[in-house]
Amino acid sequence: MNSGRVAPPCPPPAELAAAIAALKRERKAVILAHYYQDPAIQDVADFIGDSLELSRKAAATDAEVIVFCGVHFMAETAKILSPDKTVLLPDLEAGCTLADACPADGFAAFRAEHPDHIVVSYINCSAAVKAQSDLICTSSNAVDLVNQLPADRPILFAPDQNLGRWVQRQSGRELTLWPGSCIVHETFSEQALLQLKLEHPQAEVLAHPECQQHLLDLADFIGSTSKLLHRAEASPAPSFIVLTEPGILHQMRKAVPGKQFYEVPGADGCSCNACPYMRLNTLEKLWRCLQTMQPEIVMDENLRQRALAPIQKMLEMSR
Ligand code: 13P
Ligand code: SF4
Repeated sequence: MNSGRVAPPCPPPAELAAAIAALKRERKAVILAHYYQDPAIQDVADFIGDSLELSRKAAATDAEVIVFCGVHFMAETAKILSPDKTVLLPDLEAGCTLADACPADGFAAFRAEHPDHIVVSYINCSAAVKAQSDLICTSSNAVDLVNQLPADRPILFAPDQNLGRWVQRQSGRELTLWPGSCIVHETFSEQALLQLKLEHPQAEVLAHPECQQHLLDLADFIGSTSKLLHRAEASPAPSFIVLTEPGILHQMRKAVPGKQFYEVPGADGCSCNACPYMRLNTLEKLWRCLQTMQPEIVMDENLRQRALAPIQKMLEMSR
């Protein structure tokens, strides 16, 4: 573990990106970023991806330090997969409503009520919940993994009930669901979506499966953040209405600059379609964590090993 260092004054905004690049080289660090990060962070990242791709990168990197620009469960997963690396999260308060809605003790009681079930947990959960799971999934492989499970075994699915219901519809399997949800994906206004569809009749609606069913029913394409990005690249449509956190629009606009992208506001026109946890990370905090080597993700080794097994199973099954 690295001891904390005191940071000198932060460089002015115009010099921050260059200062981060220099520090990154000095620390032999790699910067991994999720699509929901602020565009300025995406622009200094070495790799941007969805949860599955970021896990694979974290497992494979030969860098000594992983700076995870995402939320806590993602950085924790990187530490589980790469225990010998220093894993930094620019803001330790970057949590997730899905992980928070599924405490380890409540989850243990839920499992105990269903002792014969296979336990499948969405990667958006704590290490303590992963450690109680048979298999981890992400939004990009959940349907495929559930389809591979023995047909005669019942399945528990936690913690996202919206994703779980979508997996249920896609796979035809009955799932017993933990009642969690994402505040961001539950906020989109159906009325605003219908209005956008009226204004842009040629637009394709792209949606993340964490959205509620009444919105997914209005979507043309449903998938993980990376799958939505690839669909925007491959589709012949001239424009897209995007039902997920609007950070993804930055890469969509870069990938297909000739097309138009519209984000869907929250109910009451609020800007709560941006994830308040993801957006806690800033360029300045990223610079500061590379300077001080803090905040660092530290984990109990016994817990890490128990949480690793279902993640490894996911990686093997989704090759
Ligand atoms: P994916 O990037 O794996 O689709 O996950 C979205 C998400 O909610 C991350 O918090
Ligand atoms: Fe969690 Fe939702 Fe934010 Fe993703 S967008 S980190 S699921 S709160």
